[in-house]
Amino acid sequence: MRIRLAVGAVIGAAVLGTVAFVQGTQQTDPEAAESTAASSSSPREQPIAFVHDVHAGQYAMDCQYCHFSAERSVDAGIPPVETCMGCHRVVLGSTETAQAEIAKVAEHYNAGRAIEWVRIYKVSDHVRFPHLRHVQADVDCTVCHGQVQEMGVITEVEQDLAMGWCVSCHRDPQYNARVECSVCHY
Ligand code: HEC
Ligand code: HEC
Ligand code: HEC
Ligand code: HEC
Ligand code: HEC
Repeated sequence: MRIRLAVGAVIGAAVLGTVAFVQGTQQTDPEAAESTAASSSSPREQPIAFVHDVHAGQYAMDCQYCHFSAERSVDAGIPPVETCMGCHRVVLGSTETAQAEIAKVAEHYNAGRAIEWVRIYKVSDHVRFPHLRHVQADVDCTVCHGQVQEMGVITEVEQDLAMGWCVSCHRDPQYNARVECSVCHY
């Protein structure tokens, strides 16, 4: 108990410093403040041009058909290549680009190689973010990730994953979720 309190005091002192720092930079350069978040907004390239608008938009696939861990685990998860091949054994693509990208999916599958997707949304290791609690409370994916069903290749975060954003929603009377430091911090 004493150790936890001591840790809390250290974190408390640190957050005061961070808040002062962020406020200070925001006045002069909002982009510099943004880059203090774990997820930078610089575009990142994916090994295969997977497009959400075709799958979740045009073909109206449910998010959780692929991100099936979201309702029962901390991580939403990225589906294994087997999930893709369920369709792409027969769906070979109607355009040249689609065919070339889908061929890469099959290559990975045939070689028994996982697709090394580049991670976009990520909070620091000292922060706990359980997807299941949010899904169970009916917070829609779009609240935090934007209109994914209209997006092509996801290369950047829609939402800065800053502490103030988490806490202000937790404080919202509509949700009334807990805000003690230890709820989110290890
Ligand atoms: C056909 C399977 C499939 C469906 C359906 C699908 N996704 Fe994805 N999703 C993926 C794959 C594969 C990736 C990894 C490649 C990428 O980042 O685009 C991904 C990545 C993501 C990411 C970024 C992950 C990261 O690295 O931070 C988010 C957010 C996301 N999906 C949300 C959604 C939402 C919301 C829906 C429903 C509107 C949805 N997805 C529907 C397969 C799918
Ligand atoms: C439920 C069926 C289904 C699943 C599962 C599925 N896809 Fe698709 N995918 C499609 C369909 C349908 C198209 C559209 C093909 C076309 O007409 O060109 C498509 C298109 C694509 C394209 C080409 C996009 C373009 O137009 O450039 C890629 C790349 C792709 N899928 C990758 C994946 C990956 C990676 C996964 C697994 C994470 C996956 N798909 C899972 C049905 C599926
Ligand atoms: C309350 C905000 C919020 C909601 C709602 C939410 N996410 Fe996330 N998502 C995040 C955050 C924050 C991260 C980064 C988590 C981390 O680094 O541990 C993330 C990460 C992801 C990732 C990256 C890989 C992983 O396993 O974490 C995917 C994929 C994803 N979310 C998909 C979804 C889908 C699909 C839904 C809806 C079923 C959803 N998210 C709902 C905030 C949210
Ligand atoms: C749009 C609103 C919203 C946002 C944004 C949001 N949350 Fe939540 N959070 C909730 C709701 C609602 C719950 C469920 C509360 C419940 O079950 O009583 C929850 C629950 C949690 C829990 C479990 C709390 C417990 O009682 O054990 C953690 C941990 C958490 N959120 C962390 C985060 C983090 C970290 C972020 C930012 C990266 C975040 N949340 C962003 C609404 C949100
Ligand atoms: C609802 C979730 C949530 C709660 C409650 C919360 N934090 Fe945070 N905290 C976060 C997130 C998210 C970040 C940003 C992490 C990142 O940049 O990836 C953060 C960042 C921080 C940082 C900055 C460290 C860094 O990554 O630069 C400190 C210090 C901190 N929090 C302390 C606290 C203290 C002290 C409390 C209690 C008064 C608290 N937090 C309550 C979610 C939360």
